[in-house]
Amino acid sequence: MSRMKLGVLVSGRGSNLQALLDAATDPTWPAEVALVLSNQPGVQALDRAAAAGVPAAVIDHRDVAARAAFEAALDAALRDAGVELVCLAGFMRVLSADFVARWFNRLVNIHPSLLPAFPGLDTHARAIKAGVRWSGCTVHLVRATVDQGPILIQAAVPVLPEDRPEDLAARVLTAEHRCYPRAVAWLASGRWTVVGDTVRLADPAPVSRRVHLNPVG
Ligand code: GAR
Repeated sequence: MSRMKLGVLVSGRGSNLQALLDAATDPTWPAEVALVLSNQPGVQALDRAAAAGVPAAVIDHRDVAARAAFEAALDAALRDAGVELVCLAGFMRVLSADFVARWFNRLVNIHPSLLPAFPGLDTHARAIKAGVRWSGCTVHLVRATVDQGPILIQAAVPVLPEDRPEDLAARVLTAEHRCYPRAVAWLASGRWTVVGDTVRLADPAPVSRRVHLNPVG
């Protein structure tokens, strides 16, 4: 079976990268991590790539004069590696409309909220402050507006009365690690189409889009 080649863009801890690496150890999972790119040197995500024997490189945004040059370097590395789908996994740089257009519908992001609620930074603190009873995560196709685009998968977790942002983050992260591999498998299956601002399943049989999570187990 030919597996879809993934490029995973990271900036830090890399636990979502790890979820994808772990999924790829199953030969029936329809994708493999071909390249990891970090805009930050020395981050844990690079250690995870090395431990998995996956090629990785640092393209430090501070080393390139302009965003266009940084993105051209990302693009060249991804294409050289034969990447077919780019997964943003805690990648904390905003990508330009030009980069998004080059990878249109082949660029996917995971965000720790139920989008369109709470895009951007400090997601969990804002969710707690707003008093929402549920938060969660969203895997979506990337569009030029940050944390916006056709939704592939969401999972909800409760916000508990005594939650601090780090408590909610940990609960949401567990959901992220289950959702991202499922979304990638679904994309790699090719059984989807984009209709307007939504993603439609051509055939829901192989991978369920609805992920029911037990928040405490
Ligand atoms: C994850 O919670 C991810 O959803 C979030 O950063 C964290 C990265 O963790 N991404 C964003 O906030 C992007 N808007 P990880 O490095 O352990 O995967």
